[in-house]
Amino acid sequence: MKTPAPLPTFHSRVVPVVVVTDPAQAVPMAEALLAGGVDVIEITLRSSAALAAIEAVARAVPAMQVGAGTVTRASEVAQVIAAGARFALSPGATPALLDAVTAAGLPFIPGVATPGEAMSARDAGFTLMKCFPAAQLGGVEVLKAWGGPLPDLRFCPTGGVSLANMGQFLALPNVAMVGGSWLTPAAAVQAGDWAQITRLAREATLAAQAIA
Ligand code: 3PG
Repeated sequence: MKTPAPLPTFHSRVVPVVVVTDPAQAVPMAEALLAGGVDVIEITLRSSAALAAIEAVARAVPAMQVGAGTVTRASEVAQVIAAGARFALSPGATPALLDAVTAAGLPFIPGVATPGEAMSARDAGFTLMKCFPAAQLGGVEVLKAWGGPLPDLRFCPTGGVSLANMGQFLALPNVAMVGGSWLTPAAAVQAGDWAQITRLAREATLAAQAIA
């Protein structure tokens, strides 16, 4: 059985989850995040601009590890690889999707919401998973509970994570990183207020370092 490709190395324990509506936003956004210490970004396939945005960041901001998010169909795997995504993430996981990413050699973070889903992803060779939607599932208490029977798995809680609660997640031994949209507010992106995005990124980076 082919094993999943290893994830690229990045240092940030906070992963911005981004919806880009104009590909021209992508490079200044990535540079603003990097300036705040965030060297990873999840650009979600939720807009027609997503693939062009991934391509622009992969080409122009090589220090940024650009991931494709909201990858929910096997047919999207070739598209995000062609765009230059270094890895991909999903809110869930299907056998077809797990097979496709592994066959293509695309590093991948599958999404799970139950222990059974986490066990299925582990069977396919994955040990780092997105826990989605983390806050709505019960937040920190859910991840604590999963740590008992599934101590070998690591999670990236996403959904309802914010500056206010990220520290509680990151303090758990089974939480590798957190994801969220709070670092790139739509209004700031529309206004091109990259300084605000750098401030938010720096604030999150410092909060994560305070836990480590
Ligand atoms: C998502 O995929 O929508 C992420 O979970 C972002 O959730 P958030 O907006 O609650 O951070």
